[in-house]
Amino acid sequence: MAALLNPPAAPAAPARTPRRRRWLGAGAVALLAATLGGFAWGMHEQPSIPPIAWLLHPVDSFTYALGGNPHPVALHLPQNAPLSAVAQLGKQLFFDTALSGSGKQSCASCHDPAAGYGPPPGSGSVMLGGPALQTAGFRPPPSLAYLYRQQNFSIGPDNDTNENSNLTQLIQAAQGAARATKTAASTAQTAQNLVPQGGLFWDGRANTLQQQAAGPLFNPVEMDAGSPERVAAIIARQPYAKDFVQLFGPNVFDDPKQVTAEALFAIARYEVEDPSFHAFSSKFDAWLQGKARLTPQQMRGYLAFNDVNKGDCAACHLDRPTRDHLPPLFTDTQYEALGVPRNPHIPANADPRYFDLGLCGPFRTDLKDQTQYCGMFLTPTLRNVTRRPVFFHNGVYHSLQQVLDFYAFRDVQPERIYPTADDRVRKFDDLPAAYRANVDVTDPPFNRKPGEAPAMSAQDMRDIIAFLRTLNDGWTKRQAPTARQASTPPAPAG
Ligand code: HEC
Ligand code: HEC
Repeated sequence: MAALLNPPAAPAAPARTPRRRRWLGAGAVALLAATLGGFAWGMHEQPSIPPIAWLLHPVDSFTYALGGNPHPVALHLPQNAPLSAVAQLGKQLFFDTALSGSGKQSCASCHDPAAGYGPPPGSGSVMLGGPALQTAGFRPPPSLAYLYRQQNFSIGPDNDTNENSNLTQLIQAAQGAARATKTAASTAQTAQNLVPQGGLFWDGRANTLQQQAAGPLFNPVEMDAGSPERVAAIIARQPYAKDFVQLFGPNVFDDPKQVTAEALFAIARYEVEDPSFHAFSSKFDAWLQGKARLTPQQMRGYLAFNDVNKGDCAACHLDRPTRDHLPPLFTDTQYEALGVPRNPHIPANADPRYFDLGLCGPFRTDLKDQTQYCGMFLTPTLRNVTRRPVFFHNGVYHSLQQVLDFYAFRDVQPERIYPTADDRVRKFDDLPAAYRANVDVTDPPFNRKPGEAPAMSAQDMRDIIAFLRTLNDGWTKRQAPTARQASTPPAPAG
């Protein structure tokens, strides 16, 4: 239906364009929502089924109205092979609390496999670490899942063209470029949209999982493992010490730095190889392949998630398979300043002069003079997001309803989101005044003026949250498959 109502425009420039092309255009969404409203629910909303929608593509409309996917895709999913010996060792290290200074914390303590490798249920805004597990961190742990396609950090239109430029050259190129907008209408600007993208951590300061793991292991507010000497001595006493010798040679324990490096390498292999880090076993993945039906509420949420006039979430949290059938990761892996409110529950924020500016510091230092990036953070995946106990880079919110309220009311009723002082709403209070212009006020739903109607109704928000639940891994099928199944089995991603 969408395809017929909104014939896809000629494919625009590659790389960063897919997130702007919306196969569910606003018109199609409105028609479909009306159709769904009339078909599946009832009379409380006036069902005005536009006959044109049915005439145009009755089969698609019916399939959507029944919760099915009229255009199933044979997804290219990562191939599941048994873990290599190095990855098996990495698994033991990932769960080993002995490595930490406290003796009580492993990677899994902050990256809980049952919570999409994010913070475990009941976590506060930030995790406690250090020698007595009493030192507060600065940011909540992101999910470790679905990082397998993450590119290196770069600034530019796409990673291929960036390969031969260094960061300084990329910044220079980006300075002349227009601000990135993700609206469907902005395809013409695409060529000059140079935006920060890729990398790991909320600020992209590491590029590889191996490089990354050294951070938390030795970070004094995290595992606080001390020196490589200490880590090597502990490993030498563990049952898996023999695996180190077997894999890395009889002399490996002569050099503590090598032991640590191999340990980090092994953990990274575990994160890359273990299928639980990229399971793609959610109901939505099944739906994409034509093997599941969404409930009416999930379908409404899916439409609102894609609707430029409602959530417009899919502009940044990409929800379509790529052209080569890779499953969507629900992030465009780009950086944005959303201006989320300051979180008084982070101890560091007790100092009014402390600001977490993301790309331009304090943890990342190479871009500290590039103030146009101050306040920007990596767009996180939304897979398994309903299992997270905290949201955004400062963990200011603890429920998805609060997150949705932020998106709906930030601009139209900012007094609901930010504190008020002297009768003035302190909008974007977690950024110094000089950097507030970096905040995105272009992309829907952030393009509204004070007093205008919010982009989403309370019902839209509940529906979107219901849709987000379909992104949780471990879905098992309880209902019959839709009529039109994907015809070919998923091919290995290679
Ligand atoms: C005390 C909690 C804590 C522990 C323990 C911990 N981490 Fe983290 N992890 C974090 C936080 C907080 C961040 C985000 C930090 C930032 O963005 O500055 C993070 C980020 C990451 C990331 C980047 C994820 C992304 O989406 O960019 C990876 C990978 C990671 N940690 C791996 C590990 C590994 C491997 C271990 C064990 C060696 C570990 N972590 C132990 C808290 C923790
Ligand atoms: C303009 C791009 C953009 C749009 C549109 C957008 N997001 Fe986000 N989203 C982000 C960025 C960037 C972050 C991280 C911001 C931060 O932490 O400061 C984020 C964070 C989140 C988080 C927190 C995830 C976590 O791991 O902490 C949730 C949940 C979320 N978005 C849901 C949505 C929903 C639902 C919509 C639609 C109503 C939406 N987003 C629209 C860019 C966007």
